[in-house]
Amino acid sequence: MLTPEITKLLNDQVNAEYFASNVYLQMSAWCEINGLEGSAKFFRAHSLEEREHMDKIFDYMTECGQAVSIEEIPKPPAEYGTLMDVIKGAYEHELKVTAMIKNIADTAFSTKDYTTFNFIEWFIAEQHEEEVLFGKILDKAKVLGFDGQPGQQLHIMDNYLRFAEGNASK
Ligand SMILES: [Fe+2]
Repeated sequence: MLTPEITKLLNDQVNAEYFASNVYLQMSAWCEINGLEGSAKFFRAHSLEEREHMDKIFDYMTECGQAVSIEEIPKPPAEYGTLMDVIKGAYEHELKVTAMIKNIADTAFSTKDYTTFNFIEWFIAEQHEEEVLFGKILDKAKVLGFDGQPGQQLHIMDNYLRFAEGNASK
């Protein structure tokens, strides 16, 4: 049985993961029309990952006998100047999600809801991975002296992003 407070936080998270999925899907669309196929592939895959996060929380709430309420999802940002803006936007978005997840963990722990605390631990590890991933992408941009402008570095960054999930775990 979930408390109303935890129910609200989890429900908000379901909707936030759905929004995150759309943020990355929109980023993928931006990359596609700007000739960045590698980056488009990366953000498309990431969009699916966020959708899986949503499903995970959806299933947990349902298992706990709590109906999920899908709310109106805000329109994701669609205008970006450069690929660098997209990458920075993604990193900042992950930091916001991490704060939300930590708040759930904090509330679950302080209200002795150890079942939810145990459940949300997976997301804490996942957010750590996300921050490492986007941190490494930003590091690579720094190494290249990449600022987002068209040229060889943009091509290299696009290729790096194509395999970024694998590159970052090395
Ligand atoms: Fe997520």
